[in-house]
Order: sequence, then structure tokens, then C-alpha cells
Amino acid sequence: MSLFEEFSQPGATEPLADGAVVLRGFAAPATARLMEALRSITEAAPFRHMMTPGGLRMSVEMTNCGRVGWISDRSGYRYAPSDPETGQPWPAIPPAFLDLAQRAAAAAGFAGFEPDVCLINRYRPGAKLSLHQDKDEQDFRAPIVSVSLGLPAVFLFGGMKRSDKPRRIRVESGDVAVWGGPSRLAYHGVAPVVDGAHPATGRSRINLTFRKAL
Ligand code: SIN
Ligand code: FE2
Repeated sequence: MSLFEEFSQPGATEPLADGAVVLRGFAAPATARLMEALRSITEAAPFRHMMTPGGLRMSVEMTNCGRVGWISDRSGYRYAPSDPETGQPWPAIPPAFLDLAQRAAAAAGFAGFEPDVCLINRYRPGAKLSLHQDKDEQDFRAPIVSVSLGLPAVFLFGGMKRSDKPRRIRVESGDVAVWGGPSRLAYHGVAPVVDGAHPATGRSRINLTFRKAL
């Protein structure tokens, strides 16, 4: 970890790449509101481990809210209008989520962000997310807004090629990463989450990823 990362300040905007920043502590004041809204979502659409197209069970647990939800199964990755577990439409994006996502996008230079989906990831200790691009969306003009809550993690932020060596950025509860424009298709992932406990989430890390999919 560099000194810069170690002494990151709440309120600081840290550049990651052209079109990509971390807004330190941006979501911290909204934590309780976000966690309360999350509870209603997971009552209707519980967290589950999805399967990769190759048949591997993902270590991270996922659910969604929005007009569509991101899913993965043996037939591939895609956005679906209803939850395959319940057959019901995904819960709507709650106002607290939308407000936070729009303010974070604007603070990062992407005014007018209108997300139609929020993928929600839960990382128990040891869970990780391999390097990938968010590229199942229909148009790449909108940025990605990614909110970290709970246990800290190492966010991996690479380049346009999977082989580009990713930067390792420690993200803590309340940090928001935003990437768009020339960074919209940057490879990114999450290193295995280290065991611990956090007052907001217990033994887990929650990530809210807002996107415009349609
Ligand atoms: C994602 O890429 O979907 C999640 C990233 C994160 O958990 O920080
Ligand atoms: Fe992603």
C-alpha cells in the first residue's frame, strides 16, 4: 500500500485513471439509509451464489434491484427483467440508492446519470471477484458507480486489456469508485476479502454497482 492510499482522507477525490476516481467516504453519511433499503430488497430478492457459464459457483453472492438485474448461469451473462429464483420482477431501485448514485456520478464529472440497475454483491470472508469488464450493457456512455460498504477490500483496477497489471486500491466502507468515458471498459475486480467484522454489515463487504444497462 502506498502512503497516498494509507492516508486517504474522507472527502478526497483520488484519480485512478482518465475518467476514473475514488470518492473517499462519499457514501459514509448514507450508510444507515442504504443498509435499511438493502434489507427490503433482500427480503424480496435474497442473495444467492450464481453459476458462471463454465459451471463454477461464484464466491460472491448477488442480487439486484432495478428495471433489470444482472444474472449469470449456464447460458451466459445477461440482464433479465425478473429474478430467476422467484419469477418476480426485481425490486425497484430505492430513492436512497438512486440519490447516492446520482450525486456520486455528478461529483465524478458524470452529471445526468440515470441508472436502471443496481447489482448488489455480498462478499463473505474469502470471497473475491476475478478481473472482468462490465460490458453487458447496451451503451457505454454512462459510467459505473460502485459503492463499498462494510469490511474493507482491495479493489483491482486495471487497463483495457486483461493482461494490464491492475492497481491495488484499498477501499473502505463509504468509498465510491466511479469509472466512465475512456475508462468505461477498464478491467476490474476484488481480491479475496479478509475476515473481520464491521458495525454496518457484520462479517461481510457489500458493494452496490449502479449501471445503465438498457
Ligand atoms: C463489480 O465489479 O461488480 C463489483 C466490484 C466491487 O465489489 O467493488
Ligand atoms: Fe464489475
